[in-house]
Amino acid sequence: MCGIVGYIGKKEAWPILIKGLERLEYRGYDSAGIALMNDRAFFVCKKKGKVVELSKFIKNLNKEEIKKNLSGKIGIAHTRWATHGIPSDSNAHPHLSNDGTIAIVHNGIIENYLSIKKILINKGYKFKSDTDTEVLANLIEDVKKHAKVSIDEAVRLALNEVNGAYAILVISKEEPDTMVIAKLGSPVVIGVGKNEFFIASDATPIIEHTKKVIYLEDGEMAVINNKNKKFNLKIKTITDKTVKIPYIHQLKIKIEELEKGGFPHFMLKEIFEQPESLRNTMRGRIVLEKGNVKFGGLEKFKKELENLNHLTIVGMGTARFAGLIGEYAIEELSGIRTKVEYGSEFTYRDVATPYRAGLIAISQSGETADTLNAIKKAKRDKMLTLGVVNVIGSTIAREVDAGIYNHIGPETAVASTKASTSQVLLLIMLAIYLGRMRGNLSKNKSQEILKEIEKLPALVEIILKNSKHIKQLAKKYKKSENFFFLGRKYNTGAAMEGALKLKECSYIHAEGCNSAELKHGPISLIDKDFPSLVIAPIDSMYEKNKSHIQEIKARGGIVIALTTEGNKELNNIADDVIYIPKTLEILTPILAFVPMQLLAYYISVERGNDVDKPRNLAKSVTVE
Ligand code: G6P
Repeated sequence: MCGIVGYIGKKEAWPILIKGLERLEYRGYDSAGIALMNDRAFFVCKKKGKVVELSKFIKNLNKEEIKKNLSGKIGIAHTRWATHGIPSDSNAHPHLSNDGTIAIVHNGIIENYLSIKKILINKGYKFKSDTDTEVLANLIEDVKKHAKVSIDEAVRLALNEVNGAYAILVISKEEPDTMVIAKLGSPVVIGVGKNEFFIASDATPIIEHTKKVIYLEDGEMAVINNKNKKFNLKIKTITDKTVKIPYIHQLKIKIEELEKGGFPHFMLKEIFEQPESLRNTMRGRIVLEKGNVKFGGLEKFKKELENLNHLTIVGMGTARFAGLIGEYAIEELSGIRTKVEYGSEFTYRDVATPYRAGLIAISQSGETADTLNAIKKAKRDKMLTLGVVNVIGSTIAREVDAGIYNHIGPETAVASTKASTSQVLLLIMLAIYLGRMRGNLSKNKSQEILKEIEKLPALVEIILKNSKHIKQLAKKYKKSENFFFLGRKYNTGAAMEGALKLKECSYIHAEGCNSAELKHGPISLIDKDFPSLVIAPIDSMYEKNKSHIQEIKARGGIVIALTTEGNKELNNIADDVIYIPKTLEILTPILAFVPMQLLAYYISVERGNDVDKPRNLAKSVTVE
């Protein structure tokens, strides 16, 4: 978790760092801080709260103070999602070592920090924070003093003593022209400018400065220093092996893709982008004449895919719910037995690996630690690993054997919207791809689904045009304290995603549940103040869903029915009805997602919440 940014070059560092932190706030936003190297002295400023608190403080400094404190061409900065220690000024990064010579920012967790802390306390070190990062700062100081080595060597030796995950940036007053960067398990990207370097947890803070980037690999560290007015970059491993400067990637994201584009929130912008994002997800991949789907990234593994005997889908949060829908689609269309698991659980469970098994890891960010660890375990178990990932070049995208990108551009709001519909679509397309290659799906049937898939962007457009209706419903239901989201078959996963959207943005307690399961316990919660949104399109489950609606109404509950356009029957039974256009049953979750996203968004706005950055959350969770 957390976002880190660094700059070393010829410009004033602080505006670059603050802007960078704003871009990385999706990674955590409970405190932020900055450290600038200013003529062999550090200016450090840390504030509890969002990055705006830090930038307000800085902008309120008078000109003299800015000149005195903020001039510095080397700096590091951090936006935090608390793991060790509450959100506070003192727990915010950067952390200084005891003698004040070393400043560090860190994304990750040092697992053995307590035992190291004990040793350091015995040596006389004092700690101002509860963080694992401050322990690392002091460990580096201690190693440096005792081994009498340069800062990069001290960092390297110290990292050999720690277990856990990290992406760190370190600067030292004693070597004021140097920055040390190291990575294990948490992401870091180095932007290569003209005699300047931009470092960040992902490419979004870098893009406006340079398109050339280097991705450090796990166990590698980079040292940037100034020799004869020229900044040099060297890469080595934590075990001290020199690494050839790796391939420099060319970024393709546009800066406009990162801005709100006239919408009040990123979440709303991203909801409204879905016709386009679905189009981009399917672009160039549908071969209608052949009733087939093309995935360039999977070509190399055709043989293995043809022979697959079992699939496990892993993901967390929204990604796992997309997986639940994918499970139905893959089993139905390809005939491959499929199971969905939390990445976090798959990693630690001791289960036999089925013969010729594959793993599909779903992740918008491509950085979720729980999902990444599941891939590592699958690789140890000799499973074929596939990724459904949005962020190009992210850790998961690079870790899997083969992958499919969403191609939907950056998703910024913490609550996932356009990534979720794209994930479901890709899983259905993957199910078609597998079904066709294994002879489980006829050309005709496949063409029928693909034709309907091609209509999805236009159908989502229709739902978005009716967003005013959802806005009204939001006003009506904004005071609810509880909510059920119910559905069956494909829409069981959709119900869970609907509940997640509402709870994460509006802080209303919401449960997603299979509608048939309701009568086996949860129904006892129903009363006149407990609304249920029932996903009941006209499909193979419609009659059953209608009965579930009746069961809720018979107990005095409130029902919002989400059904197919033209179905008037539910008007007399449900309290409110939301319509989605007619489509194939397998595609209904994609359409059902959209009004549920809008409902969560508008209710959250009504309740005055910070929709794009809900409390306690972060978009990319790089800790276990
Ligand atoms: C976090 C986010 C969720 C997201 C989940 C998985 O918990 O708050 O919105 O669904 O991570 O993220 P990923 O990037 O792996 O899809």
